[in-house]
Amino acid sequence: MKTNPPFLGTETAAADLKHFDEAALIDVLEKVEQKHGFIPRDISDEVGRLLEVRLERLRRIQGKLDSTIRRDVQQHVAHWRNEEGNLIMILHAIQNQYGYVPREVAMELSRELGVKLARIYEVITFYHYFKLQPPGAHNITVCNGTACYLKGSGDLIGELRTLLGISEGQTTPDRQIHFDTVRCIGCCGMAPAMVVDGKTCGHAKTSDLAGRVAALKAKKENAA
Ligand code: FES
Repeated sequence: MKTNPPFLGTETAAADLKHFDEAALIDVLEKVEQKHGFIPRDISDEVGRLLEVRLERLRRIQGKLDSTIRRDVQQHVAHWRNEEGNLIMILHAIQNQYGYVPREVAMELSRELGVKLARIYEVITFYHYFKLQPPGAHNITVCNGTACYLKGSGDLIGELRTLLGISEGQTTPDRQIHFDTVRCIGCCGMAPAMVVDGKTCGHAKTSDLAGRVAALKAKKENAA
């Protein structure tokens, strides 16, 4: 839990600073300045030192992340290097690994393949399959193909937008439910159809949706 900093300005205050997070440290400086009209040297030195230590720690974590991403991308590229159309195959491998195509991975892929980042994003956005955001813990996909459309998939989509507070292609802010639409899942005889966490639900009704969403949310709460 974050601790609010007390007002500082004593000899022992600088030593106490290490207990505060970055935002609290800046808060301390502002309060000290407001009270005294200046920031005592020992406090500004200590805050600067602590921020530098934390920055260095962040750089080390970022460095580790970068090298993991580089290694993963190099492996995918090595696997598909001599294949025609390898960009799509590599993007599939990346999406299978991460559940989506993170920007930093796309940037590393651009460097590794010598392909412009804009070209990579052209491919990602052209194919509906690729995702640019992390997937939700649960997925609701409504079929909006012709048969389902004629049987009212538009109402299902509208109701889900309201219940989830997001549009199709988006994930709820708590990353629990991803909502999307597709064109025909091959179950036209059960239109309107939807898929919830991989399970096909035929003859879907808008009146059932609140219950379905509540059940998915309950799974999250039970897991918490
Ligand atoms: S159009 Fe929806 S399953 Fe075919």
